[in-house]
Amino acid sequence: MNILIIGSGAREHAIAAALSRSPQKPFIFCFAAAVNPAIAQLTLRYTVGHITDSENIVTTAKNWQIDLTIIGPEAPLESGVADALWEAGIKTIGPTRTLARIETSKAFARELMQEFQIEGLPRYRVFTEMTGISDFLNILGEAHYVIKANGLMGGKGVKVAGEHLPSITEALQYCEEIFAQSSSVVIEEKLVGQEFSLMCFCDGETLIPMPIVQDHKRAYVGDEGPNTGGMGSYSDANHRLPFLTNDDIEQALAINQAVIAALKTKTGEAYIGVLYGGFMATRDGVYVIEFNARFGDPESLNVLTILQTDFVTICQAMTSQTLSQCAIQFAPLATVCKYAVPKGYPDQPVKNKAIDFANVNNKEQLYLAAVDVKKEQLIATGSRTVAYVGTASTLTQAEKIAEHEICAVTGELFHREDIGTDALIQKRIDHMKSVRAS
Ligand code: GLY
Repeated sequence: MNILIIGSGAREHAIAAALSRSPQKPFIFCFAAAVNPAIAQLTLRYTVGHITDSENIVTTAKNWQIDLTIIGPEAPLESGVADALWEAGIKTIGPTRTLARIETSKAFARELMQEFQIEGLPRYRVFTEMTGISDFLNILGEAHYVIKANGLMGGKGVKVAGEHLPSITEALQYCEEIFAQSSSVVIEEKLVGQEFSLMCFCDGETLIPMPIVQDHKRAYVGDEGPNTGGMGSYSDANHRLPFLTNDDIEQALAINQAVIAALKTKTGEAYIGVLYGGFMATRDGVYVIEFNARFGDPESLNVLTILQTDFVTICQAMTSQTLSQCAIQFAPLATVCKYAVPKGYPDQPVKNKAIDFANVNNKEQLYLAAVDVKKEQLIATGSRTVAYVGTASTLTQAEKIAEHEICAVTGELFHREDIGTDALIQKRIDHMKSVRAS
């Protein structure tokens, strides 16, 4: 079987590693914007090109006699790569452009929730001009709003009152900036609580949940500094998070299920791929922050590292819409993922500096991201560089392993020492207790 991966980050490295563990022994291929040497080692063929260029991807996939494609990032979903592959008769993990609007248009996601009365919808409004924005911000109240650019902004389109927007004046300026680049602005009430990610395998009807993970968006220890793509993540051995209740988890899964059903009713299309619900557990239950139409990064590293079921079988079950017959198991292990990133990341990262991971003990759980090879030397190209996933029967042990191993990667890099530590997790638990009691 020939399987094509689109993308070259740590998420796609984790996908390639999971495929390479399959007893079906597929041949793995990659089409990406850059060469990731770790993915290249696992693949039969690897080519570099524009990952939104459907025509080139389909031609390449046909030349390589690809049976199944897995799309990693969101940009190819938005540009209709899944549509083009299905039209060419190639089964694909990753929704069509129409369905991917659940991620690529924040307004679409909110309006779908409203139309189908799906739980967890915060107060929101979509604006296509400045008129009315000031009034709505005042209704939500000083420091109680979030402003989102409607389109894909590479994780940089969301600003939160009190964190990135000190006053309504800055909020209005930010809306004007968005209008200069995008057609609309979504303004929502700010949610107070703890965030978590629940990803599900989907075949259009059936959803199978993966372990719940918490990501860390801020760059620096103590949740300080600018937002990033995600500095690391953790999940407990019971595949939950210590601050969540059974009700929170049931609500989140029910919301993901309702969204897949609503998408089917609205578009007539089956959602085949991964639906990622980004949730906030609050005093009043679970609310939706956003949806993604793909595996999360770093969340996918936590879950794919401990996936016990053959990943190829799962992909086949998604594309043949037989997921209900597929029992999916994850090892009962806690996972802590830590990313090492270039100094200065995300705003002014040092670039093209040598890195070395020769001293990492278990390289099977190390995932390469934004790297390149120049003159036989591995270099960090400026974005998230390398992630390590520690696994153990407790979070405490998993964190110690992740910390030890990520420290063994040398170069002009930094990471968050606090992710997955007992102290930070206790802070999350205490915060959630105080939120529930407020
Ligand atoms: N962890 C956030 C994302 O994958 O978008």
